[in-house]
Amino acid sequence: MKITNTEFQLLRDYIEEQCGICLNKDKAYLLENRLASFIESYKCRDFSEFYYLVKGNEHGDLKDKLIDAMTTNETLWFRDIHPYSILKEKVLPSFAQAIKDGKKDKIRIWSAASSTGQEPYSIAITVRDFCMGQNIIKKNMVQITATDISDSCLEKAKRGEYDSVAMSRGVSAEQLNRYFVKNSINSYTLNQEIKDMVKFQKFNLQDNPIVLEPHFDLVFMRYVAIYFSDEFKKGLYSKLARVLSPKGFLVIGAVETVRGVSEDFELLTHAGGLYYQCKR
Ligand SMILES: C[S@@+](CC[C@H](N)C(=O)[O-])C[C@H]1O[C@@H](n2cnc3c(N)ncnc32)[C@H](O)[C@@H]1O
Repeated sequence: MKITNTEFQLLRDYIEEQCGICLNKDKAYLLENRLASFIESYKCRDFSEFYYLVKGNEHGDLKDKLIDAMTTNETLWFRDIHPYSILKEKVLPSFAQAIKDGKKDKIRIWSAASSTGQEPYSIAITVRDFCMGQNIIKKNMVQITATDISDSCLEKAKRGEYDSVAMSRGVSAEQLNRYFVKNSINSYTLNQEIKDMVKFQKFNLQDNPIVLEPHFDLVFMRYVAIYFSDEFKKGLYSKLARVLSPKGFLVIGAVETVRGVSEDFELLTHAGGLYYQCKR
């Protein structure tokens, strides 16, 4: 079914208002494709009928299902590699120093758009390996909070079960042996120790992260701001700067930048990778 300009505008504005995801005019096909099954299962005559159905059901689960359908959940293990060397070689050693100096006794990490879990679990594996190699940061001092707006992603992430395609994207043979159990030819489960290190929670980046934690020491907010308008990004980075502890760290996607949207962060580099530190 084809979407009209008016229907596209109505749904586009509604989606942006609910979660910040901003669809340009050339994304009409995306709405047509991703909403086709709703149109069919709710027996709607057209997209405007579906729009009014969602509007009339705001307290039910239809709005959440619509947002879930409009999210892009592409992710992989140890995505881009650099963020994990930065974590291991710069960020965790700086936290270890702060603990040694008595300035810190807990480390709070937030994976702010965790999709199906590969990002927070890659963080957990890196933290666990780091903890094994020294005796200042203990694993139980590190809290990893992972959030996403998509219910289906959160459910999958919590299960920690991945098919062979997901497993072929970024996991080394050694990590596979060490951290996963093979259930069948096409299914692997992450071991319980790593699963227990991550707490998943539903969270809309439109809201104030203070409800999650008063302060995080490190935020991974990767490959999600690309879906938002500049205005939304400005608000988001400003909230991040407030929820980060003084001199806290921010890691964003390799194709993303805070330049032009926030003055709150200083750009740092390590071994060809980029990361940011809160100026205050
Ligand atoms: C492309 S994935 C990135 C996953 C991971 N950070 C990575 O880099 O591999 C983007 C994720 O952002 C989530 N997302 C989109 N809009 C959101 C919002 N307003 N609040 C929270 N999560 C959102 C989507 O559900 C999706 O799982």
